[in-house]
Amino acid sequence: MDKCKKTVVVGVTGGIAVYKALDVISKLKKKNFDIHVVMTKSAMEFVTPLTFQTISQNIVNSDMFSEPRAWEIQHISLAKKADLMLIVPATANIIGKVASGIADDLLSTTIMATKSPVVFAPAMNTNMYNNPIVQQNIDKLSKLGYEFIKPDSGRLACGDIGDGKLPDTSFISGIIESMLYDKKDLKGKNVLVTAGPTLACIDPVRYITNKSSGKMGYCIAEEARDRGAKVTLISGPTKLPIPFGINHIGVNTNREMLNAVLDNFDSQDIVVKAAAVADYKPKVYSDIKIKKSEDELSLNFVKDTDILKRLGEIKTKQILVGFAAESNDLIKNAEGKLKRKNLDYIVANNITAVDTGFASDDNKVTVLSKTGEKLDLLKMSKRQLARKLFDIIDLA
Ligand code: CTP
Repeated sequence: MDKCKKTVVVGVTGGIAVYKALDVISKLKKKNFDIHVVMTKSAMEFVTPLTFQTISQNIVNSDMFSEPRAWEIQHISLAKKADLMLIVPATANIIGKVASGIADDLLSTTIMATKSPVVFAPAMNTNMYNNPIVQQNIDKLSKLGYEFIKPDSGRLACGDIGDGKLPDTSFISGIIESMLYDKKDLKGKNVLVTAGPTLACIDPVRYITNKSSGKMGYCIAEEARDRGAKVTLISGPTKLPIPFGINHIGVNTNREMLNAVLDNFDSQDIVVKAAAVADYKPKVYSDIKIKKSEDELSLNFVKDTDILKRLGEIKTKQILVGFAAESNDLIKNAEGKLKRKNLDYIVANNITAVDTGFASDDNKVTVLSKTGEKLDLLKMSKRQLARKLFDIIDLA
């Protein structure tokens, strides 16, 4: 087996959301995790083990006392094998059993015997979920270090509306992937990332903006989160979903981004400014909608704040990383910005390339450092580039 392959033991308990566990497992399989499923008796009333066996590509475990398929004691070997245990869906019953120290079937004994992190994804009727006994059990287990993925609110299978719905399966698999990410070198670090465009407003309905999709900044924020950092993402308007586990602050204008960045700057270890900030704003903002009374319309613009330059002036311990979006003289312009803005690193990208840059999923950049290093990187996905970037940043 692949040496770096991580093992997730998935405990499946008997709730109607059982079918969604299949999708979580399928997503984790696609990310190359080794999955071993343990089903409770009631889970098997909903879906047969064969379905889980096919999706996980491993024998499904359910019975403590079934014919031994190996010499090992099953719950102990599963408990040891697990890099992480995910209980999905987690019923009030399994949460209650673990909280009370009851180990009377294969799943509860495995949870009791493991030293790996255990993550519960509860899904149940809203009255059950909000029952103080269940809440006390969750509270008790959380204090003991067990993790809980909070259920969503919405229409439940029983027709009730409220808390108790299993969150989106990509959200659950994303959390597991993040917890098992191979690098955790940013643990204890604070990382601030800016992303997306800003708007320069003309009147209450009109603005000028740019083509930034925000993808690069979001990938950087997610990479930092997965490596263990506490991440603040200050983002202009984008179409991207808000990443989990990140302090996301939405802004529109240069001024709003500036204020949010300054409010959070002092505590940061690394600041990456991937946002495409508007350099100019209309000299006069019209409080009322501009009417089309004239044949021509002229607008005068004034320079707005260079946020990164401001940060370069006030930085203390922070490692400052900027981006240089260039259409010509890439390196020369990027070097100029590196010096002018007092940066530690600058990521130079050619925005005229068709298959990389702004809205693309890929990027091809050169990273320059204040100590004179110049690293030409191959074309790669924005997420790979984010990984590379934190590999390059010297935290010493
Ligand atoms: N930046 C900023 N505030 C601005 C403009 C840019 O913080 N008002 C930051 C960007 O987030 C980026 C870096 O400065 O990290 C360089 O941005 P870029 O648009 O490439 O360059 P500019 O400084 O705006 O210079 P020019 O438009 O002349 O290329």
